[in-house]
Amino acid sequence: MPTKNTSIHGEWSSRLAFILAAAGSAVGLGNIWKFPYMAGENGGGAFVLIYLICIAVFGLPIMMAEVMLGRRGRQSPINTMKMLSQQENAHKAWGLLGWCGVLAGVLILSYYSVIAGWSLSYVLESTSGSLRYITETKAGELFSNLIASSLTLIFWHTLFMLMTMIVVARGVSNGLEMAVKYLMPALAALILVLIGYSISQGYFMLGVKFMFTPDFSKINQAVLLDAMGQAFFSLSLGMGAIMIYGSYLSQHASIAKTSFAVALADITVAILAGLAIFPIVFANQLEAAQGPGLIFNTLPLAFGQMPGGVIFGTLFFVLLVFAAWTSSISLIEPAVVWLVERCGLTRIKASVICGSVTWLVGLGTVFSFNIWKTYTVFDKTVFELLDFLTSNIMLPLGGLLIAVFVGWSMRESSVKDEIAMSSSMLYQAWRFLIRFVTPVGVLLIFFRVIEII
Ligand code: TRP
Repeated sequence: MPTKNTSIHGEWSSRLAFILAAAGSAVGLGNIWKFPYMAGENGGGAFVLIYLICIAVFGLPIMMAEVMLGRRGRQSPINTMKMLSQQENAHKAWGLLGWCGVLAGVLILSYYSVIAGWSLSYVLESTSGSLRYITETKAGELFSNLIASSLTLIFWHTLFMLMTMIVVARGVSNGLEMAVKYLMPALAALILVLIGYSISQGYFMLGVKFMFTPDFSKINQAVLLDAMGQAFFSLSLGMGAIMIYGSYLSQHASIAKTSFAVALADITVAILAGLAIFPIVFANQLEAAQGPGLIFNTLPLAFGQMPGGVIFGTLFFVLLVFAAWTSSISLIEPAVVWLVERCGLTRIKASVICGSVTWLVGLGTVFSFNIWKTYTVFDKTVFELLDFLTSNIMLPLGGLLIAVFVGWSMRESSVKDEIAMSSSMLYQAWRFLIRFVTPVGVLLIFFRVIEII
């Protein structure tokens, strides 16, 4: 019987600290920037419904599995997977899963940082008052001018990467706990302000209808894949981020309850963001399916018109940057911790190396909005390709493999011991999901079988 491992990198001060950190990782641009535009591109209600089903059927069970693996291994995902596969007499190749996660994290962060850079630049636009009484055309121009300038984008991308590297270098729990504890609720409050504005404009029900009336004729293979990818992306699953946060979780915390709380916080923010944005879209006759620029083309209109808009707008974008910040650290943490374990580097050195590589890859995304706009592979720009490859392929694949490892390769006694669920009925339900439903479901969506049914 292997003894319990302890983490050389420290432990969360409490269960709440873990919930906050994991929620900080989950809630980010994925909820506020990506969820609304994906819903807009995929016809609204049908996408939202499938996204929610994917969270329940794949997301929550995999989150529990990831936290469980992390807590059992107590190291970087690469070494955790290596060690657990030895302990469980499983094939060595499971170690590759950790590698895949490190790669996915770097690729995601490379474009995540560019978008977080857009948000940084909107902090400046809001404080300067340039959003006041802005028209649709002007708001559109503001955004297209921003992304047309590669130098401006590089500036903001560099600034955001530096911010991320500084926090990662100091160690994840310093400062992060505080940031999440106060800033996340503040962000939720500001979204409520926006919803209040949407209601006052009289188009709120149009937004509600768009998000909650599923038009099943709109469901096709692409919508399914997008909704599944979004569920993984938004919960930070499939690449080891939650695994590494789990590795700092104390032995006594309930994995099931904690995961549930995180998932609930994540869904709530995404739905609220949608409810804030779509009414503004319809009130101004904007295009719901306009893609990644959606929130940057719509929210300035609301802030430009509402009383106190300069303050609310500035606060909103500042908090959006914080939400992105608490997510970005978790994307790079697995790579950094691995370098520390493997090469004995200090956290500072490891952060600089990982951050620089990610920054460089990020230039591809920067240019995909301007000088490389016309270069496409499979009809996708560099940014679209990176996003598709990571969210829709790598994360679900990572999640599928985690489910197979936990459900089929590990001894049940180890799993039961670590996950320590008090209700045996819930444990059986989780086990059934992770062994059968999750892997089969992900494969079905990958291989288009559902479309045929
Ligand atoms: N979930 C974050 C968001 O919604 C992004 C993120 C952070 C992420 N860590 C991750 C996505 C790990 C996938 C995997 O913005």
